[in-house]
Amino acid sequence: MYIEQENILKHISARPFHIISAAADELGVEAYVIGGYVRDIFLNRVSKDIDVVAVGSGIELAKAVAGKLGKGTNLSVFKNFGTAQVKCGELELEFVGARKESYSHDSRKPVVEDGTLEDDQNRRDFTINALALCLNKDRYGELVDPFGGLADMEELTIRTPLDPDITFSDDPLRMMRAVRFASQLGFFIAPDTFDAIIRNRERINIISKERIVDELNKIVLSPKPSVGFELLDKCGLLPLIFPELCALKGAETKEGIGHKDNFAHTLMVLDRLSKTTGNLWLRWSAIFHDIGKPATKRFDARLGWTFHNHNFVGEKMIPGIFRKMKLPMNEKMKYVQKMVSLHMRPIALADDEVTDSAVRRLLFDAGDDIEDLMKLCEADITSKNPEKVKRFLDNFRLVREKLVAIEEKDRVRNFQPPVSGEEIMKTFGLPPSQPVGALKEAIKNAILDGVIPNEYEAAHAFMLQKAEKMGLQAADK
Ligand code: CTP
Repeated sequence: MYIEQENILKHISARPFHIISAAADELGVEAYVIGGYVRDIFLNRVSKDIDVVAVGSGIELAKAVAGKLGKGTNLSVFKNFGTAQVKCGELELEFVGARKESYSHDSRKPVVEDGTLEDDQNRRDFTINALALCLNKDRYGELVDPFGGLADMEELTIRTPLDPDITFSDDPLRMMRAVRFASQLGFFIAPDTFDAIIRNRERINIISKERIVDELNKIVLSPKPSVGFELLDKCGLLPLIFPELCALKGAETKEGIGHKDNFAHTLMVLDRLSKTTGNLWLRWSAIFHDIGKPATKRFDARLGWTFHNHNFVGEKMIPGIFRKMKLPMNEKMKYVQKMVSLHMRPIALADDEVTDSAVRRLLFDAGDDIEDLMKLCEADITSKNPEKVKRFLDNFRLVREKLVAIEEKDRVRNFQPPVSGEEIMKTFGLPPSQPVGALKEAIKNAILDGVIPNEYEAAHAFMLQKAEKMGLQAADK
């Protein structure tokens, strides 16, 4: 890969690089910028974390750099790891001394020794992440690439510098990283490296769920996330980290009637949706939207394959899966649950006649997330029949038009019923009880069904009428 030296120098022209250079020369150590920052220069990506490796003590170099950077600089030393971090404003510099790691046969514990730059590059994950740029004055900007990282960059290849069985066994998370880089950067995993992932896949079980989900999130956010999920499936990691997604695989046929492969369908929905949104949780909603299908699948002689209530079953499965995978158990999860539970509604609507009351109910239930829900539903139309697709999309357009018109007229998005539970209790002298809930629900339904407008006077009058039918007496009578 050809990249002008001038261009490389531009990326290491900021003041901190020159400070590292001067400090390294004064200490008499070699210093290199290495890893993601160098890789991203060649990929024309913006990278802000800078990793520096010193052939000698990384901690001493970090101390000298922090001293030179002066005011507002924060130095943290991690003696046990032999690393140090320098923070100066937005900038984050990580320092480490070049190391060689060897594993003795009878123990899995690495013996960490000081090493050369090449030793250090050798024990990194991939050749494209092992490129180093020298910062010492007389070699400033010199690229050190003993493992063909640049050639791999040109060929869009993810390859380990060492025997991949050793690289993956040293840190099994790297198997996820290989897939993540392939998906994120549009690279290919070298066959030897990929075969080693297949062989070592079970070792992923020793990695914390938090680290795994960090990589998964990066896959979900990549331009075409199906690339990552398909690779995870092919190498056998997917059943170990996300078995519920694997359960969507396969298309069964009975009495000549088949159903679609819901794994392939889910990935298609995810890719289609990813073209219209960078919202991580909306993308996760696509991954989960049909998760309830395996549990609800039935064959009916009359109807063929059915997945009744798969949206509600899916919604209920989500907390257990989120907990297990260490996805967040907070409003992000609630949002995904809401998307999954509602994902059939616009389709059902578009299928029938689009009535005002159905649109009002949808608006009420989706609230501010209505636009996200519509995006998910549009992405969910993956039929190969162009006529069917056109009919659905036309109907969705109609739903969208009605959503705007009805929201303007009735303001039911995020609406609070105009008569509160407290007012109901006060009017009829009731304690918190079933009739209060029933009255509140009746008022809400009357508004959503368009029986009364979304206004206080009308709602109050409706409440009095309804209460009379229920045999309730106003407290002041
Ligand atoms: N590294 C490694 N093995 C790991 C993690 C990291 O060898 N399991 C090395 C790689 O050389 C990597 C560098 O440490 O380039 C920095 O790691 P990190 O900041 O996690 O990743 P980046 O490569 O910078 O990529 P990104 O910022 O996209 O995560």
